[in-house]
Amino acid sequence: MNDVHLVNHADHAKDGGMTNDPAILFTPITLNTTRFKNRWVMPAMQRGMCVDGSPSADLAAYYARRAQGGVALIIGESAAIDHPSATVQPTAARLNAATRGGWARCVDQVLGAGGQMMLQLWHEGAMRADGQALSASGLAHPGKQSGRAATLEELADIRAGYVRSALVAQEIGACGVEVHAAHGYFLDQFLWQGSNNRDDGYGGPDIAHRARFPAEIVADIRAACGPDFLIGLRFSQWKEVDFTARVAPSPAELAQMATIFRHAGVDVLHASSRRFWEPEWPERADGDDRNLAGWTKVGSGVPVITVGSVGLDIDVMEVLMQGVDPRPRVAEAIDDLARRMSAGEFDMVAVGRALIGDPDFVLKVAADDYAAIRTFRRDDLGQLEWDLSIVEEAHGV
Ligand SMILES: Cc1cc2nc3c(=O)[nH]c(=O)nc-3n(C[C@H](O)[C@H](O)[C@H](O)COP(=O)(O)O)c2cc1C
Repeated sequence: MNDVHLVNHADHAKDGGMTNDPAILFTPITLNTTRFKNRWVMPAMQRGMCVDGSPSADLAAYYARRAQGGVALIIGESAAIDHPSATVQPTAARLNAATRGGWARCVDQVLGAGGQMMLQLWHEGAMRADGQALSASGLAHPGKQSGRAATLEELADIRAGYVRSALVAQEIGACGVEVHAAHGYFLDQFLWQGSNNRDDGYGGPDIAHRARFPAEIVADIRAACGPDFLIGLRFSQWKEVDFTARVAPSPAELAQMATIFRHAGVDVLHASSRRFWEPEWPERADGDDRNLAGWTKVGSGVPVITVGSVGLDIDVMEVLMQGVDPRPRVAEAIDDLARRMSAGEFDMVAVGRALIGDPDFVLKVAADDYAAIRTFRRDDLGQLEWDLSIVEEAHGV
């Protein structure tokens, strides 16, 4: 299946190979040809600061402020690819010739503040609620018809849209792009069997078939942007419409999927979890507590980014769906992150809400001044002008 040496976590710990020294979180790392000054990432987060799909000056300043606060890699909020089917959300970001200037300002300011920037390529597929969506099978989840399955011709057209958007990112100096294949959106609708019953080699029970279309997109971007451009892919087991869903029900299928992406040309996989400290397979008799990112890395050899409630005690979906405020959970998180990273479980760490709450989160961790961190509050997000009707319906809200 793959040629990666499997490191046993428990043995590694016994050897004394693991430490919990946070210094490891501040060591540089190179992915493809891009050097990052430390391991901290801000993940893509829609902030409602785009005008006609183009990032405002405020959005550029917001990204640059987080780079100034010590974050090595800023990932731009999900930007609709250059294809008319990608989204109809009025406040969504777009990445095309018309929005090129707005994104260029973001990249320039992040670079000027000492960070690097990747842009996230997104298509909402069947999460689009107007009945016109194109997706794998016209399903947002097994019980929800939304629009229709895209034909092979339409899929080819959409692939070309991903490439056009990636080329814009490259032209304006972004170090790379992250292909969004997580949380139940378009490409995740291919990966998840619950939303993909195609029988044309792009769907069905075999993960190799379900991973094929996202992998083709990665390969097309690689061919168009050349060997040095950083390509990431973000995936998750959970969906906004189903927190218990699984793309890969076993470590073997996860390894198979990740290895397909590696062969397609990804440099880094961003394994999106709601809580980074949770073992992906807690029922395992050997007690291996690796999280989703850890299992992805060991199964494929691809560098990985972990994410999920760093610095906070409750996850993003509880905040968004229930409107509650989290409490700080910093010392425990940093200790756990350092221990797991020193064991080789993951390579970089993304911090979402905690960086919205405090742009200096990383600098304060570096200074060991956890008490000075301002804790994120639900109100920091303001009014979300986003059509969540399919998600709310799925949860009976
Ligand atoms: C307001 C908001 C907007 C988000 N938008 C995106 C997005 O555009 N693309 C994406 O992949 N994830 C998005 N996410 C998920 C985050 O990238 C991240 O995975 C999640 O918040 C978990 O990290 P945290 O627990 O540190 O906040 C969003 C999260 C929030 C809070």
